[in-house]
Amino acid sequence: MRIRRLSLQDFRSWHSVQLEAHSGANLLLGPNGVGKSNLLEAIHVCALGFSPRSRSEKDLVRWGTDRFVARVEASNDTDPVELAASCDLNGRKDVRVNGEPGRLFSKLVGHLTVVGLYPEDLQFVRGGPELRRSFLDALVCQSDPAMVDVLRDYARVVKQRNAALKEPERFDGAVREVLDQQMLRLAVPILEHRMDILDDLFPCVGRLHAELSGGSESVGIWYRGSYGEADLPRRGQELADHLESRRKRLVNAESQAQSTLFGPHRDDVTILLEGRPARETASQGQARSLAIGLRLASAELLASDKKRQPVLLLDDVFAELDGPRRKRLAAMLPRDGQSFLCSPHRADLPFEVDRTFLLEAGQVRETIG
Ligand SMILES: Nc1ncnc2c1ncn2[C@@H]1O[C@H](COP(=O)(O)OP(=O)(O)OP(=O)(O)O)[C@@H](O)[C@H]1O
Ligand SMILES: [Mg+2]
Repeated sequence: MRIRRLSLQDFRSWHSVQLEAHSGANLLLGPNGVGKSNLLEAIHVCALGFSPRSRSEKDLVRWGTDRFVARVEASNDTDPVELAASCDLNGRKDVRVNGEPGRLFSKLVGHLTVVGLYPEDLQFVRGGPELRRSFLDALVCQSDPAMVDVLRDYARVVKQRNAALKEPERFDGAVREVLDQQMLRLAVPILEHRMDILDDLFPCVGRLHAELSGGSESVGIWYRGSYGEADLPRRGQELADHLESRRKRLVNAESQAQSTLFGPHRDDVTILLEGRPARETASQGQARSLAIGLRLASAELLASDKKRQPVLLLDDVFAELDGPRRKRLAAMLPRDGQSFLCSPHRADLPFEVDRTFLLEAGQVRETIG
């Protein structure tokens, strides 16, 4: 899939804008604050149903207006697809996939594969577990869109379970049994998918990190259960049995904590560099190259299915790297796909692009190429 056109109304800093994209490398060039990242964010929202920088869709509405509309038109050789997302200040949402209406942004997932590289990705290595979980879950959903509903249902059941734990008088045996069984039933496929994806990512991340850093540091990545388990069982029944025994052991602790203490919403991914936890020991540059490795490995993984060749969104990533790393990253990017790169300086990019959009004061002034 290649993006043909991006159209926005009252999205972040943009009043009204339309870009006709090239099927190769598109550069969004303009000064700090002009709205380059906002354009990448709009593509991300249309493809994945959520913003990489905001939890609430209402934040995306241009200040002083009451509703945004973002639309991406894409196609491969045969099938066109039109993805439109809109939300107003009251949180009322409208989604269109090829004109077909819906209310949930998650309905957008599965039509256009994108992988974004953002300056904030450093936090995958340095930040809290929720960032690594959402990184994994976004990848799980892109590789199997049916998982969008499973993850949403799981989050709903955990919320209900937590609410019930806070009101023990409501949480009698029957309610508890139903919620527990629902939670375990949904947790199993989430864990299976996350661990499968990590198995596939792991060797690629090590290779890409080494390629980018020009070194040979060893990288380890493993899934870590809520109680630090590095050896969770891998398949259906065994995994269900493991969760069930954990549930039984935690009955009293959960009643006391009034919260769900185990399950995919509390798990983490451990990243090791030279055998040590990268979260604590990686330098800024090492963390950055690991994060890029994770993103490019995701792109490779998704591209292994031809239908899912991802569009790359590169948010000013070259500026953060020294000269040799810039060159190495440029050499590592897939040559045959579509990309959107943003930068305030043309000179930061160590290669030619196919089309340049000059952004200036709320307008796309000029396109070259
Ligand atoms: N909801 C909103 N309504 C209007 N403007 C907004 C909204 N949200 C953010 N902005 C503005 O968008 C601008 C930031 O845009 P963006 O992050 O896309 O800039 P950029 O071109 O990527 O800059 P940089 O080169 O510094 O990364 C900021 O000036 C911010 O005030
Ligand atoms: Mg930016």
